[in-house]
Amino acid sequence: MSYPYQIRSLEQYRTDHQRSIQDPEGFWSEIAEHFVWKKKWDKVLEWNFTEPRVRWFEGAQLNITENCIDRHLADKADQPAIIWEPNDPSERTRTITYAILHKRVCQFAQVLRNNGVKKGDRVCIYMGMVPELAYAVLGCARIGAIHSVIFGGFSAQSIADRLADAQAEFIVTCDGAYRGAKDIPLKSVIDDALVGNQSVKRVIVYTRTRTPVSMIKGRDVWWEEEMEHAATQLEQTGSVHVPAEPMDAEDPLFILYTSGSTGKPKGVVHSSAGYMLWTNYTFVNVFQYQPKQVHFCTADIGWITGHSYILYGPLSAGATSVMFEGIPTWPDAGRFWDIVDKYKVNILYTAPTAIRSLMGFGTEPLEGKDLSSLQVLGTVGEPINEEAWHWYDEHIGKKRCPIVDTWWQTETGGVLISNLAGITPAKAAWATLPLPGVQPILVDEKGAPVTERDENGMLKGNLCIQGPWPSILRTTYGDHERCRQNYFATYDNLYFTGDGALQDADGNFRITGRVDDVLNVSGHRIGTAEVENAINCHAGVVESAVVGYPHAVKGQGIYAYVIISHFHQDAEQTRKDILQTVTRVIGPIAKPDQIQFVSGLPKTRSGKIMRRILRKIAEGETENLGDTTTLLDPGVVKEIVEGRG
Ligand code: PRX
Repeated sequence: MSYPYQIRSLEQYRTDHQRSIQDPEGFWSEIAEHFVWKKKWDKVLEWNFTEPRVRWFEGAQLNITENCIDRHLADKADQPAIIWEPNDPSERTRTITYAILHKRVCQFAQVLRNNGVKKGDRVCIYMGMVPELAYAVLGCARIGAIHSVIFGGFSAQSIADRLADAQAEFIVTCDGAYRGAKDIPLKSVIDDALVGNQSVKRVIVYTRTRTPVSMIKGRDVWWEEEMEHAATQLEQTGSVHVPAEPMDAEDPLFILYTSGSTGKPKGVVHSSAGYMLWTNYTFVNVFQYQPKQVHFCTADIGWITGHSYILYGPLSAGATSVMFEGIPTWPDAGRFWDIVDKYKVNILYTAPTAIRSLMGFGTEPLEGKDLSSLQVLGTVGEPINEEAWHWYDEHIGKKRCPIVDTWWQTETGGVLISNLAGITPAKAAWATLPLPGVQPILVDEKGAPVTERDENGMLKGNLCIQGPWPSILRTTYGDHERCRQNYFATYDNLYFTGDGALQDADGNFRITGRVDDVLNVSGHRIGTAEVENAINCHAGVVESAVVGYPHAVKGQGIYAYVIISHFHQDAEQTRKDILQTVTRVIGPIAKPDQIQFVSGLPKTRSGKIMRRILRKIAEGETENLGDTTTLLDPGVVKEIVEGRG
């Protein structure tokens, strides 16, 4: 398979971008011709951002798994689709060819059907990074069930909330997951999430760690037994093939929960055709993927990056995708480099946090590792600082690999702003230029386009996107108004990203971070309101305010100011108890890095917490805290500064 829509020069980028804006319907319908459709579209695009309503390829029918699997069987049946690297390097690795992937996905699709899952049903997937997770995701897509993957770092309470919101009746999980030296008891977390739950009908449990689990009669079944049963059934038909459900272009493919500025995560909904096109197009163009290359995206499939660039993007392009169960620092900090060496990885796509953390180990873990197979490096998830960018360039890419800094979001489905590896120029710590189909614009608080440059020649404003690209979110599950409010109501006729950005005179964008109350901790998105709600659950807590502060490795750390009515035992014990409460309510990923007990919070006379001041104090600022005269009790600021320690 070659990719006729792969951009091969800067000039082509410019003409393609221009054409995609002038004639989006012509541009995208030509690209869509390179996919497998059960029925072609009647209309390429229909949209308005007021409702919002976005429809791409209306009238068309397809199944994304035919594009990700079946169409490769003719010439790539024996090519690895997924190379799986276990957590423990001494354990056997697994190579899943396209033929095996087809067989397993069909088999699991049959399992889902046998268990009563139908098109449109929501299936929650809570698994470690094992190939069976890929089979579960693609098995859902095969029969048109809507998957909702939940990252293994979320607590029972978070799962229960998501199950209720998605009205999910089915769960696929593992007994446990390995992550570094830890075993995470996934099934036991699911059991806790299901206490009192009346709606979940079936839990399918894959055995990975062989941790003892409770299996509830009539509800819980073993993956292995179900797969065997399905295999026997399929054998009787004389074929491993399970036909793919015809999906309308706009049928939902999946829900993925993500944090916003309110206390409750929202279920971002992506559609079938648009998402397929975009993940494929961006994968092929941003990374400049060439047939037979080995692509290694280090994300977890519990996040959007794993969905789009471990599974759907690479597989739809017939690529070989490495899936890694473990963590970068176990059993030692050379793990990524071992994997690159072992599988001759050509494209490495990781997060700035991972780079910064590995930088901290120096170059010793790199010794003796052959990284010469690397051709392209990528980063995603948070702003990358120049120091990390240069370390990545020098020590990993040996200054011969283009680095793509890819900016995007759960809501965008795939990369919107990035250089194209080796094709458009890179600029350290800049995401640079928009992909074809993407029109970013910087606006001020009122929504007016920013036109005045600062002393460095930069435009600075809130990042919005004009018009819809194919994989824009379609709704937030069960609450379309929330989708409108969150993304389309701030500014007229624009999608608002929640990020702030700079633009230089050449049109390059640098994303500076969130301008709303969302934190980005180690590339994980967490709402301050969510963390506050969790802290406030703790007995004795009167009120709390959570802000982010710069953290050398995590990008941002979580700083919590907490008013407490009384300490049970002492402050240190209470601090630990609060961390435990947050772990219970959200999960370990949301634990504050710093908790400061305070007697009051800086509030305006109308009762609004002045987060700007709290942010500055958390950053270590003691002097220039801005105007504090409008505060109800200016004295509280002095106390907080002194207590900062
Ligand atoms: O603030 C931006 C940051 O991550 C946010 C999106 O988070 P999430 O939906 O979890 O998706 C992460 C993976 C795509 C954005 O609003 N972000 C993502 N990529 C970059 C980035 N910030 C700066 N540079 C990036 N390359």
